[in-house]
Amino acid sequence: MRSEPAFSPAAERNKQAILELLLQLLPASGTALEIASGSGQHVAWFAQRLPQWTWQPTDADAPALNSIEAHIALGQLANVRAPLLLDVMSPVWLPADTAPFDAIYCANMLHIAPWPTCSALMLGAARHLAPGGRLITYGPYLEDEVSTSPGNLGFDRDLRAQNPAWGVRRLEEVAQEAAGAGLRLTQRHAMPANNLLLVWTRSD
Ligand SMILES: C[S@@+](CC[C@H](N)C(=O)[O-])C[C@H]1O[C@@H](n2cnc3c(N)ncnc32)[C@H](O)[C@@H]1O
Repeated sequence: MRSEPAFSPAAERNKQAILELLLQLLPASGTALEIASGSGQHVAWFAQRLPQWTWQPTDADAPALNSIEAHIALGQLANVRAPLLLDVMSPVWLPADTAPFDAIYCANMLHIAPWPTCSALMLGAARHLAPGGRLITYGPYLEDEVSTSPGNLGFDRDLRAQNPAWGVRRLEEVAQEAAGAGLRLTQRHAMPANNLLLVWTRSD
């Protein structure tokens, strides 16, 4: 029996704004790995509107894969591969013969996972990106030179109260982890509700 697709209200709200930027940023075709796909709403929305891209959704949470599968089925999406279990902390993400990806997309994971996942995300992305490929991250960040919105400050407090290992990450510290993996921040886009969409490019 097929599972029901889960719906996150936040993903419903932000998927179109993210898509509009992806349509500008990405070439017409390619392959994309999604990290922390969650419900699968993002990958389903993007895959339908970027039909020449092939998407590989993943998540560390096994039950999430059922919802992702349900969204793929609902959208009858031929350009989305079956979701895979992938924890960024694992030293091996994918089989060794997996072809490199033109883009890796990760939304809303860094603040809801322990800090070491940031380094793991950057190192894994560097391993699996094709030359010239880009890691795209989306979510809330704190920034040294930008005053933090009351919303993000409250969100950070709520996250830390739920789990002291969680919290809104500081962009400059994320960039440091990225640099350690050979990725540099090449684009910063302000998004609705005090979120940022960031593009990280392999330095080589
Ligand atoms: C807030 S949800 C975001 C889901 C989706 N990307 C979105 O923006 O709607 C966070 C997701 O991160 C996943 N996650 C947490 N820790 C992870 C890890 N170590 N590796 C991969 N995914 C992880 C969770 O399972 C969850 O699906």
